[in-house]
Amino acid sequence: MARRILVTGATGTVGGAVMRALAADAAGGMELFGAARSDRSADALRAGGFSPVAFDYDRPKTMRPALEGVDAVFLATGYTVDMLVHSKRLLDAAKAEGVRHIVHLGALAADDTPYAHFAWHQMIERTTEAMGFSWTHLRPNFFIDTVWAGLRHRPDRLTHFVGDRTVSWIASDDMAAVAAAALRDPAGHAGKTYPLAVEAMSFGELATLLSEVTGRAVEYRPRPAVDLLPILLKQGMEPTYATSLAEGVAATEAGDMPLSDAVFDTVEKVTGRKPVTWRDYATARLAELG
Ligand SMILES: NC(=O)c1ccc[n+]([C@@H]2O[C@H](COP(=O)([O-])OP(=O)(O)OC[C@H]3O[C@@H](n4cnc5c(N)ncnc54)[C@H](OP(=O)(O)O)[C@@H]3O)[C@@H](O)[C@H]2O)c1
Repeated sequence: MARRILVTGATGTVGGAVMRALAADAAGGMELFGAARSDRSADALRAGGFSPVAFDYDRPKTMRPALEGVDAVFLATGYTVDMLVHSKRLLDAAKAEGVRHIVHLGALAADDTPYAHFAWHQMIERTTEAMGFSWTHLRPNFFIDTVWAGLRHRPDRLTHFVGDRTVSWIASDDMAAVAAAALRDPAGHAGKTYPLAVEAMSFGELATLLSEVTGRAVEYRPRPAVDLLPILLKQGMEPTYATSLAEGVAATEAGDMPLSDAVFDTVEKVTGRKPVTWRDYATARLAELG
């Protein structure tokens, strides 16, 4: 019987990359479904050649039908404190439907981190374990894709709030490759916590690299971390999560975030190939900057 996999956040940055990474397998021996909470999301998945299934974290009744017959789930939540209740609802529904393996998209931090959204991700990890699932925990650091998306709007300028601190980076395709390996072969990756960050670089160094790769001047404009919260709130981010994010960034700016510049060989070890660096990523997407 074909294995069935559900990817949540399938229209998002990482879940979308997981769908692409697993698409080849879907041709044989695997049924792959992307969670869609609206017609728009379902249409976007279909346009990418994927099969959507109705699934809304805010409508718990949608969850069990989406999880029926599913063996393994990619659990991704959004930038809101609702990540807690969303994850709990998914885990309860998955348990009821007999799902065996959970691959959770968390965030890189020390195990005793005091910063809220990192701690919440770790509580979701502990809950997943306590509920008796087989599990693989992904802990990525700064997403290359998120900063690149900002650069597409403003190709001559990087703005961030961590000052000159060195931070470590990972691209969605590498997160997805590791996630896909765990979803394809749960037994081979059960009980593993995978830190995901492949190179370390400050924003100033990144601006220099991007200037070189793009052939045009890219300037880094650091802003104090205290400026971040009002900006996030103005952008409409849910306030509890925004406060946590701003605190984490302020801690990084202050040099009080262990592992914020740590790099790991997880991608090579799990996938057997070299990871995507900032230089690779920007070079492959130069045309997107117009
Ligand atoms: N950015 C970073 O540097 C960074 C670093 C470390 C960890 N992380 C973690 O990465 C995660 C976010 O991943 P991402 O950037 O891939 O997210 P994203 O691009 O914002 O995508 C969010 C996904 O969740 C879906 N979604 C939102 N609300 C939903 C609901 N009520 N029901 C069902 N689906 C819903 C969205 O669907 P629609 O298309 O319908 O909106 C979308 O597919 C967070 O947990 C964050 O802590 C981020």
